[in-house]
Amino acid sequence: MDIKEIQLKDLDPEAFIKDQVASISEAVGDGLAVNALSGGVDSSVVTLLGHRALGERLKTYFIENGLMREGEPQHIVDLFAEMGVKVEIVDAKDQFFGALKGVTDPEEKRDKGITNVFYKDVFGKLVKDCGANVLLQGTNYTDVEETLAGVKRQHNILEQLGIDTEAAYGYKVLEPIVQLRKPAVREVGKAVGLPEELFSRPPFPGPALAARVIGEVTPERTALVRAATTIVESELCDSGAFQYLAILHEDKVTGLRDGKRDFGHQIEVRCWESTDAVTGEPTDVPFTKLRTIADRIIAEVSGVVSVTYNIAPKPPSCIEAV
Ligand code: XMP
Repeated sequence: MDIKEIQLKDLDPEAFIKDQVASISEAVGDGLAVNALSGGVDSSVVTLLGHRALGERLKTYFIENGLMREGEPQHIVDLFAEMGVKVEIVDAKDQFFGALKGVTDPEEKRDKGITNVFYKDVFGKLVKDCGANVLLQGTNYTDVEETLAGVKRQHNILEQLGIDTEAAYGYKVLEPIVQLRKPAVREVGKAVGLPEELFSRPPFPGPALAARVIGEVTPERTALVRAATTIVESELCDSGAFQYLAILHEDKVTGLRDGKRDFGHQIEVRCWESTDAVTGEPTDVPFTKLRTIADRIIAEVSGVVSVTYNIAPKPPSCIEAV
């Protein structure tokens, strides 16, 4: 890889911030830049670096793709408002669900359903409309590494795959944190002034809940995994785990409800111990906690008859299902 990793032990967060702010200022010049904030650690750090460099000349958008967690868009907008950063919500639900319609292959979902709509349709238009020439994004070292290794196509890898973003989408892409892995990104987040709720958040994937719906991603199927995610997050937020999530399976299974046969959905729960998402071990969640999660999902998420817990490590499993 051409990119040189800055390991956590070698990171001087203040010097890093200073360097990146200077690079962003230089690259954007007197122009404008845009960035997408998802509320994850990476995009939150990039938003603050960009605002430090450009102030009002950075336009920050929250793309409501219909795949976010419950209440997430407004919560993130409110948190950034407290830091003096204005974030505009862009409703792109129909564009994303339109592109995801009928798509079941995982890589096609990431490529056609997420990457293409995000960079070409949504950002192509936003960048053009506001007259910006640069997109800032929070690609990190692991994203590039996994994509180049052929593990999976991370939604945000472009230039490293030979995509000329200026020719393909009409703007340049800057990646201020591409030399860092997650623990180092968190340190920079802390130093640049993010609240702890943001810099210590569990990771959340760029393709959002689409990475957790096996098979076709429809608004209805996304709503099921969203409801299960709310329960899993509320039950495991004190676990100290690296990441915890719910997955909706494609196959339905036979169950029994109110004395009658029920053919219903399967939700898989995952909870990971990891430092950088490169490898992971399933957390030893107490069985009583797993039962509480299962009972709540069955009672609160309509049509679910099966709840399982993934006990395979990464590799060969992955953190996300898609
Ligand atoms: P996997 O599923 O590859 O995930 O074991 C490793 C870490 O990366 C997150 N993830 C993504 N993050 N864009 C992202 O920004 C993506 O396309 C993407 N896919 C997975 C995942 O949540 C985990 O933390």
